Amino acid sequence: MTDSIRFPATFTWGVATSAFQIEGAATADGKGPSIWDTFCRDPANIIDGSNGDVACDHYHRYLDDVDLIASLGVDAYRFSMAWSRVQPLGSGAWNEPGFDFYDRLLDALAAKGIAAHLTLYHWDLPQALQDAGGWLNRDTAHRFADYAAEVSRRFGDRVASIATHNEPWCSANLGYGNGQFAPGVADAKAAIQVSHHLLLSHGLAMSAMRAVGAAAKLGIVLNQWTADPATDSAADHALAELEYARSVQWFMDPIFKGSYPALALRAHGANAPVVHDGDFAAICQPLDFLGVNYYFRAFCSAETPPRQPPEAHARTDMGWEVYPRGLTELLLKLHREYPLPPVYITENGMASADRIEAGAVSDAARIDYVRTHLSALAEAIAQGVDVRGYFLWSLLDNFEWNSGYAKRFGIVYVDYATQQRTPKASARWYRDFIAQRRGAPTLD
Ligand code: FCB
Repeated sequence: MTDSIRFPATFTWGVATSAFQIEGAATADGKGPSIWDTFCRDPANIIDGSNGDVACDHYHRYLDDVDLIASLGVDAYRFSMAWSRVQPLGSGAWNEPGFDFYDRLLDALAAKGIAAHLTLYHWDLPQALQDAGGWLNRDTAHRFADYAAEVSRRFGDRVASIATHNEPWCSANLGYGNGQFAPGVADAKAAIQVSHHLLLSHGLAMSAMRAVGAAAKLGIVLNQWTADPATDSAADHALAELEYARSVQWFMDPIFKGSYPALALRAHGANAPVVHDGDFAAICQPLDFLGVNYYFRAFCSAETPPRQPPEAHARTDMGWEVYPRGLTELLLKLHREYPLPPVYITENGMASADRIEAGAVSDAARIDYVRTHLSALAEAIAQGVDVRGYFLWSLLDNFEWNSGYAKRFGIVYVDYATQQRTPKASARWYRDFIAQRRGAPTLD
């Protein structure tokens, strides 16, 4: 069945993680605290009262983890750098032992022939910058640009790509809009201003890294979804259009068109962000690639209570609707609306309540999820979207933010008591799928 899914011969296959979710070693070797370290100090913020102090202990086990990655036969590994590990205060002095860790990780990946795709910011702002106002403080954007330039000077010729941000929608709306994520602020106006500063920081970082002139491809990773009206009613259509404008276009338009979408700006009213002269020129930088994270679609109903997606659609352990067609539709829509650079699916995967039985984890639903999404992705490519790679989220079960360790996204099971890693059935399936691709008919 999977034989019929076709991809270009040069397609990149990968797995993804992020620093706070796997590294642990919260205070090792001079690392400064991040906003997620602080947020977890109040156990009420995390469903299981846990924290990232140890997580998957990847900081100490990275060599074994790189072996694990290599055993999957993937081409590439996407991970993030913990800013406060390499610059404990988010400004000023660099922490050499922190850089040494990433240096060793890059060596280990290179030794296995695995391309490194680095994300600079996967939500773990140095706490010292938070104490000065965090992303509400415009100056943080400049600190981020300095950090980006330094990383690119040191590692820019050793990594295949550098993404500025991971999912700034989440940093703004979950960090500052509803307070579910660090730093735990619930203030609609603040969230919108933060989204602007995140975009500004992206643009400043792109320019700063370009000035360094490293070989790495530079871009950003956005979480995106299509927004479907629940019914044909005018109210549902209007809601869907607004949802798409506030989430997808809000980040895409400034980057590709140099302005905010008028519909969303009107809806924000007095909460619209303060934008300085020249901000859009700074934000609207050419990208070498666009990373798209896709998990689900938005299903928009103006009724009370809102209509839900059809019962027949499966849901993941997060309660997220399984909707692979949305990936094809999203990519085709983006392709129509923007002059896209090469696209990478930088995250896609699902949580399931996996159990280890007789040393094995049978996660058939995850295999089905990945297979159907890959098929949806192949369809978008066949229809002309230039997608160059796919990174499965995630390599390991890990600290799933405010869900703690209660939700398992890995294709490798982690026993947190022993740190033992056990590849799930999906890991073997993914390995075989990739191996088969190499011998299978391709698009070119
Ligand atoms: C994305 C995040 C990633 C992980 C997955 C499930 O929003 O980028 O860290 O939490 O969701």
